[in-house]
Amino acid sequence: MYKIELKNISKVFENKRVLKGINLIVNEGEMLSLLGPSGCGKTTTLKIIAGLFSPDCGDILFNGKSIVNIPVEKRGAVIVFQDYLLFPHMTVEENIAFGLKMAKIKKPKRRVKVREMIDLVKLDGCEKKYPSELSGGQKQRVAIARALAIEPKVLLLDEPFSNLDTRLRESMRIFVCDIQKKLGITTILVTHDKEEALLTSHRVAVILDGEIKQIGTPAEVYEKPSSPLVADFFGEKNYLEGEIIKGFFVCKMGKFKTGFDKYPRVMAMIRPEEIELTDSEEGSGFWGRILSKQYAGDKIYYKLSANDIQLKCMANSKNMFEANQRVWLKIDFEKTIFFKAEKS
Ligand SMILES: Nc1ncnc2c1ncn2[C@@H]1O[C@H](COP(=O)(O)OP(=O)(O)OP(=O)(O)O)[C@@H](O)[C@H]1O
Ligand SMILES: [Mg+2]
Repeated sequence: MYKIELKNISKVFENKRVLKGINLIVNEGEMLSLLGPSGCGKTTTLKIIAGLFSPDCGDILFNGKSIVNIPVEKRGAVIVFQDYLLFPHMTVEENIAFGLKMAKIKKPKRRVKVREMIDLVKLDGCEKKYPSELSGGQKQRVAIARALAIEPKVLLLDEPFSNLDTRLRESMRIFVCDIQKKLGITTILVTHDKEEALLTSHRVAVILDGEIKQIGTPAEVYEKPSSPLVADFFGEKNYLEGEIIKGFFVCKMGKFKTGFDKYPRVMAMIRPEEIELTDSEEGSGFWGRILSKQYAGDKIYYKLSANDIQLKCMANSKNMFEANQRVWLKIDFEKTIFFKAEKS
């Protein structure tokens, strides 16, 4: 399998810089998620790796060798697109055999490979069916089988689960991860679904507006975001501006002990689930008032106000508080993430 390296890849479409110097390494056999919002350049990056687009500048290396001048069919990389792009007039086995036929693989060998793929993706009994006779999950498995039949060294999956309903998405995710592990194929999974990226990958690369902002293990990107932009992408956050003075975070709400001392002017990032609400003063925190409450079964979303600052809190539904109620917002500032304040 290949190690993929992208070096300073840029792409301009109609005067718009869509990719702004992408640097990325995907190790041999690794499953990496490229996670970012719609329009940030994920599909463009995959197409450049596959050879469907050429970069305006930069280099792509497979196992240390530049492949920018190597045509699509010789790169050893395949893309599975979101809408599968199966050939409607071909049966399942004909679809799977397509790439092998193009590669001029002889019929007996083709047959063996198609059988192997049908077993791998568990499509036994569907060999003679046409795409219109298949469910979404089955279509997707045909697309994956067709891609894997030619034994690629790099698998590029572009939002492969987004057309499936929640339950099918979960089972297909597990299924694809199992195949990836079994074959040890270097894989890039493009998604805008945070949970999907965190659940499926060895590492996650967060791409925002044509730039990779952070690469790390799922825990690293979620727990230690490199900037508020990355943090916000993983869900709504609260920010408190303040100063670090002799081991204390000093802000509008008071003075709180913290282990942080890297920058003097900071923004404390507090996740809605990190605020615990109580009706009496308990540990480190401050008083506030409930502005609104939204019930969501096992959790409750509150909007709060404290010292003229609005905060969001997500709490479990064990203790319920009502609008206008005075509550203590318990926050452990020793575990809080601080970013350097913009104006310091
Ligand atoms: N062939 C093209 N010609 C012109 N502009 C393009 C082309 N392909 C993509 N773009 C533009 O490049 C930007 C990035 O597109 P891209 O498809 O890479 O985004 P994406 O991250 O995959 O988004 P999504 O999650 O919606 O699929 C968009 O603004 C898009 O309009
Ligand atoms: Mg896309």
